[in-house]
Amino acid sequence: MTDTAGKAGLTPPYGPGWRARWRRWRNRKVADPAFQSWASGFALTRGVARRDGAQLFDLVAGFVHSQVLFALVELDLLAALQDTPVKADALALRHGVDSQRMTALLQAGVALGLLERVGDGYQTARLGAAALGVPGLAGMIRHHDVLYRDLTDPLALLRGEGQTALARFWPYVFGATGASDPDTVARYSALMAESQALVAEETLRAVSFDKMRHLMDVGGGTGAFLAAVGRAVPGLDLTLFDLPAVVAGAEQRFASAGLADRVSIHAGSFRDDPLPEGADAISLVRVLYDHADDTVATLLRAVHGALPPGGQVVVSEPMTGGATPHRAGDAYFAFYCMAMQTGRARSPGEIAGLLGQAGFVDVAHRPTHRPFVTSTVTAFRQL
Ligand SMILES: C[S@@+](CC[C@H](N)C(=O)[O-])C[C@H]1O[C@@H](n2cnc3c(N)ncnc32)[C@H](O)[C@@H]1O
Repeated sequence: MTDTAGKAGLTPPYGPGWRARWRRWRNRKVADPAFQSWASGFALTRGVARRDGAQLFDLVAGFVHSQVLFALVELDLLAALQDTPVKADALALRHGVDSQRMTALLQAGVALGLLERVGDGYQTARLGAAALGVPGLAGMIRHHDVLYRDLTDPLALLRGEGQTALARFWPYVFGATGASDPDTVARYSALMAESQALVAEETLRAVSFDKMRHLMDVGGGTGAFLAAVGRAVPGLDLTLFDLPAVVAGAEQRFASAGLADRVSIHAGSFRDDPLPEGADAISLVRVLYDHADDTVATLLRAVHGALPPGGQVVVSEPMTGGATPHRAGDAYFAFYCMAMQTGRARSPGEIAGLLGQAGFVDVAHRPTHRPFVTSTVTAFRQL
């Protein structure tokens, strides 16, 4: 048997058991065009062959599907067609698009399950309506034009050649200097805050905040997460810590949420400034994945130092699947973070390891219902 896996230095379970040998034999067969042609016609194999083919075609065409969604969002068609069906000609006229091409867009929307045909018009389908119900989704889809540019040459991205468009779009990760222009800060803070609602919802379901007395959110942006926790847990004191240009937008949010008297706002950089003490719990929501391991290690040590004995840290962000890779974490967020050029998406196990190295104990992964939104890991400073 040619053992390329063994030669490559891989250790079992790749083989040499019968399962591994069978898989290698099967894969050689499946990769043979003549076998494919036979399998797609034979009664016992054509179902699998058709499913594999359709799945492969979906992967090949995935970026076109995303761009159809992008066009529907840019023209605001999901919202416009929510209540009444409209004919393609009318939409073509409204948006200055040739009628045949508008029909092509609408038909594609139907094919993707976002729209449905009603008589000779088009209306938003359930999936399209669900997209309208996700706060921040439209903003996320729109800013993907930046990520697409970086993914045009995935090999250059993998080799780390040159600065990426996404890194220029999110300048705060390079430190406070890149985040001082008020317009830039307002743009990214708004995008983060819009998409925060679901993250907060999932985090609040996965982690109990009820026994906390005082929560500090480090890298908390303009306070959207803290405001959500503050509304859910009456009496909890709140502290926001983020870069000076970012926290400038927070006061207004806390005032309109009626939380101003429960919140203190600290401007600073966790790279250069000590974290304020006094909170018995600290949250890091969508913060760690922006940073390299050494920055994360330093930050987690600072968080550990700022907590009292028995204090709790809550990490909430999209995570990879570790030994069980999944699409959201290992395909989307891993490549998103790669394009950011500063951090990486990590598995709950990797985050647990970093927390342990920083001195935390009782580290626990608390799964959420929607891991494509966020996952959570909690830990405690020893009593
Ligand atoms: C991806 S955003 C997440 C914001 C918020 N936690 C959320 O989930 O919506 C990362 C946040 O970390 C903040 N940040 C980045 N570097 C920082 C630093 N050195 N010190 C303090 N905050 C920082 C950014 O300003 C930004 O608000």
